[in-house]
Amino acid sequence: MIRAFIFDLDGVITDTAEYHFRGWKRLADEGGLSFTREDNEHLRGIPRRESLMLILKDRVYPEEKIQEMMERKNGYYLEFIKEISPRDLLPGARELLEEIRAAGLKNGLGSASKNAGEVIERLGIYSLFDAISDGHSVERQKPAPDLFLHAAQQLSLSPAECVVVEDAAAGIEAARAGGFRSVGLGPAERVGKADAIFPSLAGVWLENLLTAIAA
Ligand code: G6P
Ligand code: MG
Repeated sequence: MIRAFIFDLDGVITDTAEYHFRGWKRLADEGGLSFTREDNEHLRGIPRRESLMLILKDRVYPEEKIQEMMERKNGYYLEFIKEISPRDLLPGARELLEEIRAAGLKNGLGSASKNAGEVIERLGIYSLFDAISDGHSVERQKPAPDLFLHAAQQLSLSPAECVVVEDAAAGIEAARAGGFRSVGLGPAERVGKADAIFPSLAGVWLENLLTAIAA
């Protein structure tokens, strides 16, 4: 019996995945580091520090410099998200969140971003969530299941009663590790391990999700 959906934010509800990319790209360019859109695919769902480590590869920097780079990237990201408004919701996202609520089910947010609260506030969908778990909620981030378990606990539900909706390989892995069923959004190379896959939430309704994960 499914009683809730736990949504990732970046790349699922809004396209902030693009802003994270642009922030890292600017930082990489400033440091003369190579960083492509393709490299960025591996950074989806990965927390700030681990993302930077993946960009730096085997280069070693003092902790102070690492902190400075993380702050600089976050500064760029905060500039980008200042402009976010309800127009930036990805197609189908608000409709689905509203339909889930209307059906008496719950919505949780499970995003590794420390900026998730601000983004959903700006998108005008804060009140559509019954639980918010973000980059401040747990120590171990995706692919560990902790963030989704945190959200399920806030909803007073077991993982078996929740479905995770994700665009990242690390997120699908986290869902599986926690005993959640999952819906992957995007190409199979990225979210192939999900129980059901859709290109995006556009035109996807509650019934489509329930049918797909039951199959
Ligand atoms: C999400 C995004 C990642 C981002 C991470 C941390 O998981 O998909 O691209 O690195 O959040 O975000 P933050 O806003 O805390 O730097
Ligand atoms: Mg994501």
